[in-house]
Amino acid sequence: MPDVLYFNGRFTTTEERVLGVEDRGFQFGDAVYEVFKFLSRRPVFIGDHFRRLQRGLQAIEISEPWTEESFGAMARELLARTAFDDGIVYVQVTRGEGERSHFYSDHMQPTALAYSRKFRFPDETKKEHGIRVITTPDLRWRHCDVKSVNLLANALAKKKAQRAGVDEAILIADGSVREGASSNFFAVRDGRIITHQLDEHILPGVVRDHAIGLALDAKIRVDERPLRDTELFDMQEAFITSTSMGVMPVTEIDGRRVGNGRRGPITTLLQRQFDEAETK
Ligand code: PDD
Repeated sequence: MPDVLYFNGRFTTTEERVLGVEDRGFQFGDAVYEVFKFLSRRPVFIGDHFRRLQRGLQAIEISEPWTEESFGAMARELLARTAFDDGIVYVQVTRGEGERSHFYSDHMQPTALAYSRKFRFPDETKKEHGIRVITTPDLRWRHCDVKSVNLLANALAKKKAQRAGVDEAILIADGSVREGASSNFFAVRDGRIITHQLDEHILPGVVRDHAIGLALDAKIRVDERPLRDTELFDMQEAFITSTSMGVMPVTEIDGRRVGNGRRGPITTLLQRQFDEAETK
């Protein structure tokens, strides 16, 4: 069944070919995107996703197609038209369509689209058993804080992980751990959490932010700093965070067990609390 699609102010389905071949999103990756989750047709943390989208658009000077209010109204109508209760919404805003040229006009009409999609979120067994990961060099550009659609380096890293029979690739640069190809990365060492600070090297993950808040509420110390790659093999727990995976234990890195190879107590606590926070 085709998915419900919002495209430049109207609703249709993903069966309709709406995008022009000279859209800059297609030709230059000149676009930003968001992925948010919905449960019982209720968007999860939509304000956080809207604000990140807005910051991304401002950073690359694409005009904003929505206010927070009109974005919320679009999402509500999209979900009202959707045939299922739980899933994800993919949102993309491109600089727009125009004759192909590296030079772009300052007054382009942005292309704005969003569609809902069914998604199988991890079940209890997956959440307990966690995932295995590999490390791989971070080959991305230098504005990873912008959620740009230029995901070639991420997709190649993900393919490498898949070929190695694991779920995620952890990106390493200059001897330090940055984030996953589609997630943020956390280590737990001596009762403390370590995760990369917010800067141009990582995406400011919505789940990352909530997980840090929950840890601080639980009086767990959080050090936001680059983790040396050598520290990867000297920690008790590790986990990743993302909209699709929530808080997900990492039990093996490059074939070596993390801690005792099982979901640890701090990961378990944050995972439970995060799952609760999502449904509030
Ligand atoms: N990815 N880092 C990267 C590189 C990501 O692509 C993502 C999310 C995250 C986690 O962000 P959040 O907690 O806001 O989902 C971190 C989305 C889900 C995707 O590309 O599908």
